[in-house]
Amino acid sequence: MVRIIAFLVGLGFVSALLVGVVIPREAVEETASHTFHLHPKEVSFSSDGPLGKFDRAQLQRGFQVYKEVCSACHSMSRVRFGDLAALGYTEGQVKTIAAEWAAETPSINPETGEPATRKSLASDKFPLVYANETAARAAQNGALPPDLSLITKAREGGASYVYSLLTGYTDPPANLPKDAQPGSGLHYNPYFANLNLSMAPPLVADDQVTYGEGAPKATVDQMAKDVAAFLIWTAEPKLENRHHAGLATMIFLLIFAGLTYMSYQSIWADKKAK
Ligand code: HEC
Repeated sequence: MVRIIAFLVGLGFVSALLVGVVIPREAVEETASHTFHLHPKEVSFSSDGPLGKFDRAQLQRGFQVYKEVCSACHSMSRVRFGDLAALGYTEGQVKTIAAEWAAETPSINPETGEPATRKSLASDKFPLVYANETAARAAQNGALPPDLSLITKAREGGASYVYSLLTGYTDPPANLPKDAQPGSGLHYNPYFANLNLSMAPPLVADDQVTYGEGAPKATVDQMAKDVAAFLIWTAEPKLENRHHAGLATMIFLLIFAGLTYMSYQSIWADKKAK
């Protein structure tokens, strides 16, 4: 009896698996997003791989792109001005960046008690571009520019996706079905999941951002790569520590494996099989 019940339960699991894994694939209809959506381009960053390190100069350029272009619409509310010291800015430079930031930090007028704003300090987080979602949508034709602090963790493909999105705007292909055509206020971009998004191409011309001495030429491609690298850092500022800890752990485990093998040899040395 128990065997029969167990068999039936097993059968139940297997059929649930079949229903879950096999059938939906066949049932998926071919939509325009399936046909025209592209996976992120292959692009490498210095922070990739187990030994990857941030390229500070690139992060500074990426921050400059964020500041001069993206911060008009996108907040970065999980980052503090003071965190920028990790990109190689001095304390004085960080203070200046905070004090000169276009959007000010909310505060309270000490005399009237009314809400007010003040210049940001190094200890402040980057102020929100819009006070809340309603204000953001009202200003952006109904669309919501997401906070960019964690965007490279929040989207499949991470920084490669951000880079591909920024460099991926094109004209819609001729054979694009009517219902997938960009409506008014939308822009075709095959890297965006449903092909049309309300962000107009933010990087459009070489030297849109003026890079300093010794920097590579500020092409659209370079600016997109730099800001994507910067957004890897905002999402995981301690990435290098994690890589170091991982490496140290691997070395420790290797040494430990060697020691374990040696003690095994010595314990069993006089007990070899005849
Ligand atoms: C003029 C406003 C504006 C500027 C400037 C702008 N964006 Fe956007 N961005 C938007 C809006 C609006 C959306 C939401 C689009 C949608 O959902 O249709 C968006 C969406 C995004 C997304 C999310 C796409 C997704 O998968 O949901 C990313 C990533 C992004 N922007 C990155 C950037 C970067 C990086 C910059 C600077 C180089 C930038 N944006 C500049 C308005 C802007």
